[in-house]
Amino acid sequence: MSDKVYYFETLKFLDKRKKLKEAISIAHPNFALVKYWGKNDTEENQPAMSSVSVTIDSLISKTKISENSSSKDLKWSLNGREQNDLNRILPTINYLSNLYGTKDNIQIESNNNFPTAAGLASSASGIASLVTAFERYYDLQLPIEEKIKACMLGSGSAPRSLLGGFVLMDHLDHFRCSQILERTEWQLNILVCITSAQEKIISSRQAMEISRKTSPHYGKWLDINSSHIRQAIRFIKAKDLLGLGRVSEENCDFMHKVINSSVPSITYKNRMTEMCIETVKQLRERGHQLFYTVDAGPQVKIICEQKTSKIIKDAILRQTIVPQIIDASIGMPPQSL
Ligand code: DP6
Repeated sequence: MSDKVYYFETLKFLDKRKKLKEAISIAHPNFALVKYWGKNDTEENQPAMSSVSVTIDSLISKTKISENSSSKDLKWSLNGREQNDLNRILPTINYLSNLYGTKDNIQIESNNNFPTAAGLASSASGIASLVTAFERYYDLQLPIEEKIKACMLGSGSAPRSLLGGFVLMDHLDHFRCSQILERTEWQLNILVCITSAQEKIISSRQAMEISRKTSPHYGKWLDINSSHIRQAIRFIKAKDLLGLGRVSEENCDFMHKVINSSVPSITYKNRMTEMCIETVKQLRERGHQLFYTVDAGPQVKIICEQKTSKIIKDAILRQTIVPQIIDASIGMPPQSL
C-alpha cells in the first residue's frame, strides 16, 4: 500500500473512532536515582545517558482534554492560569496529532497538587498525564514506543512517569523504559522536604545545556553513567537500601558538581537543602537506613524504610527549619479517570 493510500485509510479509521467528550488522566512525578543531565539532541530532546528513577504516589498532575468550541486555537491552562507560551506542550501535541491525523480544536487543563517548576518533576508528570489523556480522548491504543517519543519531546524525564515502581530508561536501546521492580515488591517511604516553593532560578533545560558546554566535569559525568546504572539496578533487585543510597548519593553529588562547575556557575541547593542532607547523614550514622537525593531545585527527597519513616520525619522537622514535608510512597503508572 502506498504511503498516501495508507494515510487515507488511517484517516478513515480515525473518523470512525470514538472520540470522547472529555478525558481526564493523572500521572505521578518520578525522581531519578541515577540522573539525566545533558542531551544528545536538543531537537528531539534526547538525553545523553540512561537513568533510573522511582515514581512517587502522593504528588499528582491531572490533565483534562475537551473540545474547544469557542476558538480554533489550542488552549492550555496550568493551575487555572491560561498559558500564552505553548512551547512546553506543542512538540508533544504536534507529534501525536500528526501521527494520528487528529486535528480538532482542543483545550487542555493541567493541574498539579504540588509546587510547579520547583524541582519536583512537575513537567514529567504533567507531560505523562497529557499523553495519557490524549490517548483516552481519541480512544487510541498508543504503542509504548510512541508514548515514550511523545513524552520525551515534552520532557526528557517524562517517559519514566509512564511506569510505576522503579524504572530504567535505557539510552542505548531507543530509550526503552522498563520496570526494575514493581511498587509492591519493595515498599519504601519517600519524604519530600519542601525547602522552598519558589520556581527554580533557571530551568533544567537551559542549565543542562550550559553544563554540557562548559563544565570541566561533564565528560567524566558521561563516563560514570553506565557503572552507576549497573550498580543501581543490582541494588534495587537485591532490595539493598544502603547500597542503593551509596550509588544514588554519589550520582546526585556528581550531578551537582557538574552544575556548580558550569560557567556561569549554577546552584540549585539552598541552606536548608544542606541542613537536610546533613541530618540524613547523622541519622544514618545512628543506624537508620535512608538516603537523600536532590534534583534541579532545592527540595530534598529522602528514601527510607516504612517502619522508621515517622522517626526520620520528626528528626528532620526538629533539626532543620523545613516548613513542609510531604509523605509519599512508591507510585503507580498514569491512570485515566
Ligand atoms: C535533574 O526532564 O526536566 O530532574 O528534558 O529539558 O525537560 P528537559 O529536562 P527535565 O530534566 C530532569 C533533570 C533532573 C534529573 C532527572 O530527572 O533525571
